[in-house]
Amino acid sequence: MITNLTVNIGKLKLENPVMVCSGTFGYAGEFKDFLPLKKLGAIVTKTITLNPRQGNFPPRTCETPAGMLNSIGLENPGLAGFLNEKLPILKKIGVPVIVSVASEGGIAEFVKAVSELNDFKEVAAIELNISCPNIESPVTSHLSPVTGRQSPVACRRLPVFKNRRLISQDPQATYQLVKQVRKATKKTLITKLSPNVTDISEIALAAENAGSDAVSLINTLMGMSIDTKTMKPKVAAVIAGLSGPAIRPVAVRMVWEVYQKIKLPIIGMGGIIDTSSALEFFLAGSTAIGVGTANFIDPAATISILQGIKSYLRKNRINNIAKLIGGLKV
Ligand SMILES: Cc1cc2nc3c(=O)[nH]c(=O)nc-3n(C[C@H](O)[C@H](O)[C@H](O)COP(=O)(O)O)c2cc1C
Repeated sequence: MITNLTVNIGKLKLENPVMVCSGTFGYAGEFKDFLPLKKLGAIVTKTITLNPRQGNFPPRTCETPAGMLNSIGLENPGLAGFLNEKLPILKKIGVPVIVSVASEGGIAEFVKAVSELNDFKEVAAIELNISCPNIESPVTSHLSPVTGRQSPVACRRLPVFKNRRLISQDPQATYQLVKQVRKATKKTLITKLSPNVTDISEIALAAENAGSDAVSLINTLMGMSIDTKTMKPKVAAVIAGLSGPAIRPVAVRMVWEVYQKIKLPIIGMGGIIDTSSALEFFLAGSTAIGVGTANFIDPAATISILQGIKSYLRKNRINNIAKLIGGLKV
């Protein structure tokens, strides 16, 4: 039996629905010795900003029961660095490249970055990261005016997150942002949503109404972990983003809620580590899935999951992955 694994995300046609999550796979080159990159449905890059970022002070990660906390602070080489150093490597792989973009300077900077990516046909789609819990807005506020580097004092202030709201925590702000970016590009636009909200489906609806082609969810959940010997936070930024299997039930629930509210394709993620966890996301309504934290445990997790999905479909005589999407029986 031939199983059809192709899925459409906006104008993008993916050979299969298994992709990697932003920030957990670098710019793919780092993983080339561990798996056949060509087999991935798509590659989502680490989020880039217009200007390079050094990211947050270490320690930036720690393990938690069934997951991890991270506060990387969007370390990245900036748009020009990405175009010069990373895109040439990504383009050779031959699978759709989805560039994740964030802004340190509001809507204008999002629009500028996205507009500049328009010139590169090897950029298949853009994921708008409006849901990173690990940067302050505007981010430059904790850079020293003298050295241009992050000051320790400011870094200590960072976790307090006073008056800090993510765009993805506000339907109006999400609508405005997506609307403006939509005007700036014809490329497939994916809006990445935060779970740190009361009703994620409202935000998804705002993204849909503003012209997004798809939504991806979930980004990390805000969490904290304390070393009781030193009485210090395990991650320097104190508050960090929780990922891995611990967040899976939350993610599956949110995919299901969004699936019932909007018509756009959903890229589901959050704690996928094996075939069964990937299947949960399709049944809840995902058209494609992202594998994140699992890449740190097994860099080839995506390939095992893809194989597992194929076997499951064959075994259950399902000839098209589309038949699984939203197939939850309630
Ligand atoms: C170390 C680390 C770095 C991350 N960096 C980003 C990032 O740059 N941009 C982004 O949109 N999400 C980022 N994420 C969130 C993931 O893309 C994903 O949404 C989240 O981790 C849930 O999936 P998972 O449980 O499979 O890891 C990061 C996650 C981790 C663990």
